[in-house]
Amino acid sequence: MTDHRFPAEFLWGAATSAQQIEGGRHEGGRGESIWDRFAEISGKIEDGSNSDVACDHFHRWREDIDLMKWLGLGAYRFSIAWPRIIPTGTGRINPAGLDFYDALVDGLLEAGIRPFPTLYHWDLPQVLQDKGGWASRDTAEAFVEYSAAVTRHLGDRVKQWTTHNEPWCIATLGHEEGHHAPGHLDPPEGLRVAHHLLLSHGWATEAIRRETAGAEVGIVHNYCPSYPATDSEGDRDAARWFDGFFNRWYLDPVLRGSYPADAVADRIAAGHLEGPDLPFVKDGDMAAISTPVDFLGLNYYSRNVMKAGPDGKPQAVTAPAEKSTDMGWEVYPEGMYDSLMRVHREYGPPQIFIAESGAAYDYPTDAAGRIADPKRVTYLRDHFLAARRAMAEGVPLAGYFVWSLMDNFEWGFGYSKKFGLYGIDSETRQRIPKDSAFWYREVMAANAVDDAFQPPTQGESRAFDR
Ligand code: FCB
Repeated sequence: MTDHRFPAEFLWGAATSAQQIEGGRHEGGRGESIWDRFAEISGKIEDGSNSDVACDHFHRWREDIDLMKWLGLGAYRFSIAWPRIIPTGTGRINPAGLDFYDALVDGLLEAGIRPFPTLYHWDLPQVLQDKGGWASRDTAEAFVEYSAAVTRHLGDRVKQWTTHNEPWCIATLGHEEGHHAPGHLDPPEGLRVAHHLLLSHGWATEAIRRETAGAEVGIVHNYCPSYPATDSEGDRDAARWFDGFFNRWYLDPVLRGSYPADAVADRIAAGHLEGPDLPFVKDGDMAAISTPVDFLGLNYYSRNVMKAGPDGKPQAVTAPAEKSTDMGWEVYPEGMYDSLMRVHREYGPPQIFIAESGAAYDYPTDAAGRIADPKRVTYLRDHFLAARRAMAEGVPLAGYFVWSLMDNFEWGFGYSKKFGLYGIDSETRQRIPKDSAFWYREVMAANAVDDAFQPPTQGESRAFDR
């Protein structure tokens, strides 16, 4: 039977990112980011929106800390906007940018909440994109300069640092498939970008440790377990292909110091590489990338079931809508367990955090001002319990960050996909706790998932302590 109680030191949190919540695009000396620019191109953001104001966290951060305190968060994962700190990408540091995060960190600490910042959550200064962006090694060097500046300043109060969030999304969605900024469709470039991201992670890890005595440094990967649709050889190979392309391409360099040979062969076969000698890998790169991390962050949302398509090419099987969230991502808590077990067994990082997990469901605010979101509650409950089961089997899972604290700018989907524990009134930007926020509050207070808890169905009133 699964233990529903969590260890006393388990870190419960919630996550956001700068571009998705801050707004204040032109304030505090902030420079332009690649996502500001991308959102200006017609058709790139599904609902035609942008993140110029977003949740207005730039002005409401004090109120947001109050929400976190009320919830009882142990930690808050947020990201620092490079264009606020060094608007020109390299060189002059903008004091107002540092001041913003200074005050945020102090406010969190006063509220008893551990700050858990990420240095790069996709908002590259546009000026660096103009010089080649992540396809250029110079950007990896610029990232080290930026990381050192931030950690030198905040390192007396912040002890856990994440370099990058989800390099796969940056490389593939941004440079191979064009869905994310900067919107390129160039697979060979995507591979170069992935390498420079990983390299900059390794270099920055050393720089952060130099700047901050006792810093713990890690990286966050999105992990998607890959299952074959049937036991046929073709389907099994499709599952292997996706795992190599999505998971191992990132985990292997960081935790083993090499790119996975089978996935390299897949890229050669696809015409994205000329041969096994990767042209972007220079002497010493793999050693830098595999500088030991203190923790690994995993973002888990769903799984992929893979099959060999009619042309023999790997294809993902679409899950039925009733089993999926508004993103079309299948709800599959067992995948959380499988992912943690696999990463622990095969890679053995010293400590793991679930850095993001959550579900997009759109529920209305009722006449009484309440947002009942039973499917989100069920999603979180089942994933918490799956994680707990992996812990019972020895996985060193130290904490869990729910994505997200509040509904926000969901990249290419704009505001149409709602992941928040809090809803945001689109006119007043008032924060409205959803039922899931009340439920999560109970979980954190008890440090246990209540077995007796019955997720409220929509419209049903539940005696929450408001
Ligand atoms: C992850 C991102 C995060 C958010 C969630 C839904 O890929 O890290 O910013 O978009 O997905």
